[in-house]
Amino acid sequence: MAEAHDREGGTQSFTLRLRRYDPESGNAPYWDEHKIELEPHRSVLEAVLQAKDRFDGSIGIRCSCRQAICGSCGVRVNGEPALACHTHLDAAKAGARDGVIEIEPMGNMPVIKDLIVDMDAVHWKKIQRVTPWLLAKQPVPEREYIVPKDAMVDVTQTMACIQCGACVSDCLAMEVDPGFIGPAALAKAYRFVGDPRDAEQYERLNDLAQDPQGIFDCTHCFKCVEACPKGVNPMGQIMRLRRIATGDHHIVDQNNGKRHEDALTTLVRDYGLNHEAELVPRSYGGNSWFGKFHPAAGKEMLASLPTAIKGLLRGKMTPAKILFGHKIPAQDLKAVQAIYDKVESRPERYELNLYIAGEDE
Ligand code: SF4
Ligand code: SF4
Ligand code: FES
Repeated sequence: MAEAHDREGGTQSFTLRLRRYDPESGNAPYWDEHKIELEPHRSVLEAVLQAKDRFDGSIGIRCSCRQAICGSCGVRVNGEPALACHTHLDAAKAGARDGVIEIEPMGNMPVIKDLIVDMDAVHWKKIQRVTPWLLAKQPVPEREYIVPKDAMVDVTQTMACIQCGACVSDCLAMEVDPGFIGPAALAKAYRFVGDPRDAEQYERLNDLAQDPQGIFDCTHCFKCVEACPKGVNPMGQIMRLRRIATGDHHIVDQNNGKRHEDALTTLVRDYGLNHEAELVPRSYGGNSWFGKFHPAAGKEMLASLPTAIKGLLRGKMTPAKILFGHKIPAQDLKAVQAIYDKVESRPERYELNLYIAGEDE
């Protein structure tokens, strides 16, 4: 009878493994398992709420809209950040290692209880850091500002953010440096930097470039791009901030971020690939072969010696590559350099925002 009911109602059995932790209890975190019955197209959030309703009312989870709008149900499902209300049970089961759907709190934020993290302590604090409101150009028009359509569509991508914290949860740079302003807040910063009505584009960019935990702290790992359920592409926004800061305002930052970028682009143009042994000295000592003789470069080279030795021992680097860099076939190098010529010969930088073209997926 039960089976017949399952077929009619289309429900299936799913096992949830929940990460439980109550810091106030003084006990260590533990895993808790519950079997629930729901249709496969129902969400992980509904499953957790069923477990809470039927088996253990003390399970902590935050939710509100249940429609991927409010951003409050961010968790990790099978190790990946996700909105619990926007993750179907069948998909979650398919992605589970042993058929058991594992749900745990987001990373990089302290746990308040079970699946609830302290967004105030990390996420919202960082959002506050970037002055998250428009500093309007003066005089404010009597009726309204008229802004170009493309400019508004461009910032609309960052306006799509629902502040769920999924990108923060998975940011590798934040894991190493919790002080990093982070993907969500920097995407928010772009929302105002890219807004033609804002009066402080230079000041905002200079602030974020000079901050040692600002735009140059991002390591291009793409985790925030993959994590975001709304296609905000935080890393893309950070790269835009960098390009406007260095390309349009010629801001030279105290973190060597601009010098590092200049050195990397020069090396790729000259060798077709990065020349790792030249990158550090040029980033600190100046973008030429002589950069390595600058005292600042010497200090950094000494500091990176253990990494270089590890690379040599593991065969990732060879003495020949350290001295002469990578060699790629001459026609490939020519093709790389032709791209540079084409890009550099443009009268002005051309930003292709795939979100505007509707192709961000
Ligand atoms: S790309 Fe940058 S901001 Fe995004 S997760 Fe990686 S380090 Fe963090
Ligand atoms: S950028 Fe995306 S992942 Fe990050 S908080 Fe906003 S919606 Fe969530
Ligand atoms: S409950 Fe609102 S986004 Fe999931």
